[in-house]
Amino acid sequence: MAVGIFDSGLGGLTVWSAVHDKLPDLPLVYFADSAHAPYGVRDADDIYDLTTKSVGRMFDEGCDLVILACNTASAAALRRMQEKWVPKDKRVLGVFVPLIEALTERQWGDNSPPREVDVKHVALFATPATVASRAFQRELAFRAIGVDVEAQACGGVVDAIEDGDMILAEALVRSHVDALKRKMPNPGAAILGCTHYPLMHETFQDALCADVKVFSQANLVGDSLSDYLDRRPEFVGSGTESKFLTTGDPKRVSDRATQFLRRKITFAAA
Ligand code: DGL
Repeated sequence: MAVGIFDSGLGGLTVWSAVHDKLPDLPLVYFADSAHAPYGVRDADDIYDLTTKSVGRMFDEGCDLVILACNTASAAALRRMQEKWVPKDKRVLGVFVPLIEALTERQWGDNSPPREVDVKHVALFATPATVASRAFQRELAFRAIGVDVEAQACGGVVDAIEDGDMILAEALVRSHVDALKRKMPNPGAAILGCTHYPLMHETFQDALCADVKVFSQANLVGDSLSDYLDRRPEFVGSGTESKFLTTGDPKRVSDRATQFLRRKITFAAA
């Protein structure tokens, strides 16, 4: 039995870590499409082609359920995959919905009509492709009314993180937060809508002010996966081995991953 966790690169490790803490006995296949990261500057067709190729590879590893721990793929490709591509006996889930349910104070799977919620002004930080898709605003509109969303496309941050250049990543985050604040001076909440960004959580929080509630996905996805598997245990697939696969250079990717998670992570070639 194994569950797949997919990202374009290292960002999904924030989700992997939360899922592993929550479900330590569950074998996890992590797949990083590092050779093609970042996805956030690609167009939707390109993201769809790359994501389906990677997820198909994860099905071959015995995963019946794959989490797209990548907002860019969730925003640009997931709906099309679910409509046309995912086989009936497999599931592919995204990372947007648990986050929006938390923001709108909903229980898992509460599909009641949209209603007013406490938070009125939300800052969304995400990749250019995620911002362009407007998927976040679409999912939010199903659940909440009267929420003003200002989105900031954070160009360059994912590349800097993948390159391990945290000084550049920090400078970019601060300048993107400044740009957002010029458009929305007092957000009530901020969404880190890219799985790479929790690695910069403290910088976002510091640049935004202490009273802005910063939501990131990792723990929320861990909790909702655990809940999902309680209800649908048949989607724990046939794979028995935990592994980390990458389309990039396994040594380089392993070094970066070990640096980020502060635990030894060894990738193999996909
Ligand atoms: N970490 C991914 C996301 O959540 C992808 C970033 C990228 O490849 O540009 O959007």
